[in-house]
Amino acid sequence: MKVALIGLGSVGRGVAEMLAKKDLGLTITGIADSKSAFMDPAGIDISRILANKKKNGSCGDQHLTAEDVIKKADYDALIEVTPTNALSGEPAIGYIRAALSRKKHVVTSNKGPIALAAKELRAMAKKKGVALRYEATVAGAIPVMHTLEHGLAGNEILALYGVLNGTCNFILTRMAAEGLTYEQALMEAREMGYAEADPTYDVQGIDAAIKLVILANTIWDNGVKLSDVDRTGIDLLTPDALRLADEEGCTIRLIAEANPKKHLLRVSPRILEKNHPLVNDGTLNALTFETDMAKEITLIGRGAGSIETASAIIGDLLYIRDHYVQRA
Ligand code: HSE
Repeated sequence: MKVALIGLGSVGRGVAEMLAKKDLGLTITGIADSKSAFMDPAGIDISRILANKKKNGSCGDQHLTAEDVIKKADYDALIEVTPTNALSGEPAIGYIRAALSRKKHVVTSNKGPIALAAKELRAMAKKKGVALRYEATVAGAIPVMHTLEHGLAGNEILALYGVLNGTCNFILTRMAAEGLTYEQALMEAREMGYAEADPTYDVQGIDAAIKLVILANTIWDNGVKLSDVDRTGIDLLTPDALRLADEEGCTIRLIAEANPKKHLLRVSPRILEKNHPLVNDGTLNALTFETDMAKEITLIGRGAGSIETASAIIGDLLYIRDHYVQRA
């Protein structure tokens, strides 16, 4: 299957490296970053592109753009991994529309288009007979969407609650373990590449709230928006608050929760016992679904990181290859 890759930040590089390293039958025929692009219908030498990018900051021809790749390259599936713009969703919404209009499948890690325009984009994909998959938008490597779609098929999802932001989990873990201030811990998270381009998205709970909106709309199709989420971040938490929780055998985690029957859609720091299933260290995310048949199911895994997010994207690509492209 031929793929075009748009975005060469942390996630895009992770995908490119894994496609170059693993023999998955996926060939990159178009690639673009914010300043340049490159196309070759016979397949691109990814190692050379990544080396170029590292050396001179460009992935190819500076007269070509992401739009050129999306509109002209020869590919089956677009991998859209540009940075999230939660206000407009652009330019990613335009990229996705352009690929779908060419009857190309789309896999994205970009939360903006899915939080803002999932209904429209899903309808467009359906009309064109192609897939729009976004496993990587929520909880990094954890196969949340695959679990909902397959493992929990036929269940009614009654409620969900979880840790959906790896950066906040990392910061809270480091503050509790080492007594670091919030600023010190955030600096470490940025150095490790976990935080969003604008880390206020992480620490003010916006990133977790966007993921909550994506989950709620995927599960209940209830048209909720970011502004519907009752949101408090971790940016005002002090090391003292964590120390006091610790004295009670507890700790603090940023919890996202949704329960449509109770009209609950909230992201806030919560005090939890240390042995609670949602209390995990580092960038781990955890998500509990309450369902009618399976009862409670909790998934735990890496919620951020280049290769971890590539895992979710590659899972979506292989799903498309097996269910659409090879059957065509
Ligand atoms: N900044 C996000 C996080 C990355 O820390 O969870 C994954 O969406």
